[in-house]
Amino acid sequence: MADLLIISSSIVRPVNNSRSGRAKIHLTPFDLTQLQYDYPQRGLLFPKPDPNFDLISRLKASLSVALETYFPFAGRLVKVENLEDNSASFYIDCDGSGSRFLHAEAKSISVSDFLQPDGSVPNFIKLFFPADDFKSCDGVLEPLLALQVTEMKDGVFIGFCYNHLVADGASMWNFFHTWSKICSSGSVSSDHQPLILKGWFLDGINYPIHIPVSETERSQPSRELSSVASTKDRVFHFTKKNISDLKAKANSEVDSSDLKISSIQAVSAHMWRSIIRHSGLSRERETHCKVAVDLRQRLNPPLEKDCFGNMAYLSSAIATVEELLDRGLGWAALQINKVVKSQTNENCKTFAEDWIRNVKNLKVGVGGRTDGDTIVVASSPRFEVYNNDFGWGKPIAARAGPGNSISGKLVFFPGIEEGTIDVQATLWSHVLVNLLADVEFVEHVTIA
Ligand SMILES: *[C@@H]1O[C@H](CO)[C@@H](O)[C@H](O)[C@H]1NC(C)=O
Ligand SMILES: *[C@@H]1O[C@H](CO)[C@@H](O)[C@H](O)[C@H]1NC(C)=O
Repeated sequence: MADLLIISSSIVRPVNNSRSGRAKIHLTPFDLTQLQYDYPQRGLLFPKPDPNFDLISRLKASLSVALETYFPFAGRLVKVENLEDNSASFYIDCDGSGSRFLHAEAKSISVSDFLQPDGSVPNFIKLFFPADDFKSCDGVLEPLLALQVTEMKDGVFIGFCYNHLVADGASMWNFFHTWSKICSSGSVSSDHQPLILKGWFLDGINYPIHIPVSETERSQPSRELSSVASTKDRVFHFTKKNISDLKAKANSEVDSSDLKISSIQAVSAHMWRSIIRHSGLSRERETHCKVAVDLRQRLNPPLEKDCFGNMAYLSSAIATVEELLDRGLGWAALQINKVVKSQTNENCKTFAEDWIRNVKNLKVGVGGRTDGDTIVVASSPRFEVYNNDFGWGKPIAARAGPGNSISGKLVFFPGIEEGTIDVQATLWSHVLVNLLADVEFVEHVTIA
């Protein structure tokens, strides 16, 4: 195991927390479904800055300024017990408690150890992320945002984790971009806008929402986990040509002429079919492909495009193994396309109303850890991860860390070359081996 040493751990607070007005952010059913999800972990690898750059103090100082605007990240989750009906409610208190900042060193690890040419993800990278098995409900004690800056032999990795109740990927990367701009320029730019919170958008639903206490207790990792086959991570690269081929194939198999399968849907469907083909599940078995849908513009009236908060909701396309394998790429992509389209204003409202009436199964998390019947498409190639330059150079790679790690977790990033996609897949080792030997799968990706 590689040597990684934590040099310091501190709390970074907003320079001035008055801006928050100590806002309370009320949580919707779309947030609360994620109460037992792990904090997502992401990170960017950078070249090594000049030794005179004053890396840690500049990152911390600029973080403190960025948190003045993005004050929800410096808040805490508050749990209120409602004794009258044995339930609990939650909100986010923007109290300026601060975010955690870890400084680490891994001087023996180089960029070339980190980025394997075949897309393998070395086991040690989990040390480069800050979360220690945090779930959303832990936000009552733990920071809603934690960062770890690790100085390597010839590079720097900035890993972070965040509570999904406070933000989704879109909001997280907006924050990250603002932070990088403040760090590189040394000040807040003049075109800088105050944060727009998403606000309460569910007319007819009262907050705070009451959740049965039993659903709010922290779920423990299941005992059997250790005996389950271990997972491995692998990054698959899709070139522009790979994507356009998959997209053309999917669209040619779908007959409706006014329907358009997107690149992301075509790539997701290819991964879904290929992984399930090697899952060893019986042909009648139902499988799920969960995709994160951004609800901001799907509501009526729509929310501000860039409003801050969590507006990502995981919805599931469902198909049996038999259907997936026999009906082809276009059909699978169409199921994903349909489930995304079905997130209309009406359906969101119905979902929210039904959810409140019957809160259950929160402890299942993102999917059964032991079943291998679920694919989760997280993050998005639309998030601009490579435009985050803190003042010493652009990122050279993006990676996801442990968390919600079922076999079948797919984290999508844009590739470093525009128009390409990288998919970091977490898979059982034997599924990965079979996938790499599958001509039909490998034909459409670039492994080296
Ligand atoms: C903090 O922010 C508030 C509100 O924007 C402002 O009125 C106040 O002057 C600021 N305080 C400092 C010390 O900058
Ligand atoms: C995938 O991309 C690579 C590199 O561009 C190419 O060699 C390969 O033929 C592509 N496969 C398909 C099916 O487009």
